[in-house]
Amino acid sequence: TFVVTENCIKCKYMDCVEVCPVDCFHEGPNFLVIDPTECIDCTLCEPECPAGAIYKDENIPLEYLEYIDINAQLSIQWPVATEKNEPLDDADRWDGVKNKKFYLDI
Ligand code: SF4
Ligand code: F3S
Repeated sequence: TFVVTENCIKCKYMDCVEVCPVDCFHEGPNFLVIDPTECIDCTLCEPECPAGAIYKDENIPLEYLEYIDINAQLSIQWPVATEKNEPLDDADRWDGVKNKKFYLDI
């Protein structure tokens, strides 16, 4: 499965949603996650993310390993994202900021 990691937080560009053929993105207030039970490993979303936040699970940098569980958990809680909306205000300013997990709204 593919996994959304920390750099999506407070950016939420949503380009990923448009390309997913099986609608496996779920949307929270300032982050998106991928449902690991729905993702078919098509690879289309990874290069679409302007923030570079999406990884194949086996390629996740060690510092983001916990996002495998975070995606699995939050995809149960959050509704499916069906269409691309505007990125969050200040998305470009938050792109690349470290330790954004503190700001994750669940
Ligand atoms: Fe959707 Fe494909 Fe990305 Fe999986 S790899 S989340 S199926 S676009
Ligand atoms: Fe997040 Fe990148 Fe999608 S910032 S909403 S994973 S395009």
